[in-house]
Amino acid sequence: MSSPPMAAKPMKGILLAGGSGTRLHPMTLAASKQLLPVYDKPMVYYPLSTLMLAGIRDIMIISTPADLPQFKRLLGDGSQFGVNFEYRVQESPDGIAQAFLIAGDWLDGCACALALGDNLIFADHLGVMLRAASNRPQGATVFAYQVRDPDRYGVVSFDESGRALEIVEKPEHPTSNWAVTGLYFYDSRVGELAKKVKPSPRGELEITDLNQMYLEEGTLHVDRLGRGCAWLDAGMPDSLMQAGTFVQTIQSRQGMLVGSPEEVAFRMGFINVDQLRKLAERVKKTELGRLLRELADHAVSA
Ligand code: DAU
Repeated sequence: MSSPPMAAKPMKGILLAGGSGTRLHPMTLAASKQLLPVYDKPMVYYPLSTLMLAGIRDIMIISTPADLPQFKRLLGDGSQFGVNFEYRVQESPDGIAQAFLIAGDWLDGCACALALGDNLIFADHLGVMLRAASNRPQGATVFAYQVRDPDRYGVVSFDESGRALEIVEKPEHPTSNWAVTGLYFYDSRVGELAKKVKPSPRGELEITDLNQMYLEEGTLHVDRLGRGCAWLDAGMPDSLMQAGTFVQTIQSRQGMLVGSPEEVAFRMGFINVDQLRKLAERVKKTELGRLLRELADHAVSA
């Protein structure tokens, strides 16, 4: 009798929150960019919620030697959200793909998602889309979003049938206006493939080179985010302000939270209603606290 197939190990997640935030100086001279407020929450809450919404419960937070203690202070061991946080230092900002080398032993051959700590995605059915990406057994998934200034990003071009042709990092002459967002899903080979990435002319291990490897072997899925989605990166004064205004507009108009790991933890079943109440209590003097309390009350009366 043949033995049953081995269950795949659950996907892990990395939240990359290092770098020097030079485009936000002087704000980031003495504070981590990813801890700056985006309206009513620290920036890192948004990509953290996204990883959790994908169903990921083992998350490594990578930051600079100076900033990592602040992340630990804010986020602890993750048990309050029903997840596990692991912390590691990136000594210097040598590239996004370096995250997989830093996390190598911890990854232990698991598939892994990577979220940049300054990216915010908001979309209807985002959870469904994320879980589809995290359940894909092979290859990698990235998300593309149309922007006015593609030369600031990794840019993906497509053939007439909509198949991705190539990804170029910050091209001088972009061949499309589809930017690759800072949220990536990779299969269990990512740790090994990342070792093959060579430093770029600007001296960084580029995430685009890793994505290009998957693309060349024909296993890169590029999901295009439509007009009903918002993708913001909060790495410059204008975009930081826009992100904050966006969150404020949705939350105050709809009374619904954007980027709350407390809410996601509860909706994903990582924590129960009593744990949610405790989280609400922690921020009881805020609108966030009120909305979390409301969520708990509705859950009990439903
Ligand atoms: O935002 C999406 C874009 O992010 C992608 O379209 C690009 O392909 C990708 O290279 C990246 O471009 P950026 O110019 O935004 O990368 P940046 O160097 O600003 O880094 C993005 C975030 O990652 C930032 O919050 C700092 C953090 N980071 C970056 C590097 C290079 C680290 O924590 N460590 C690093 O070594």
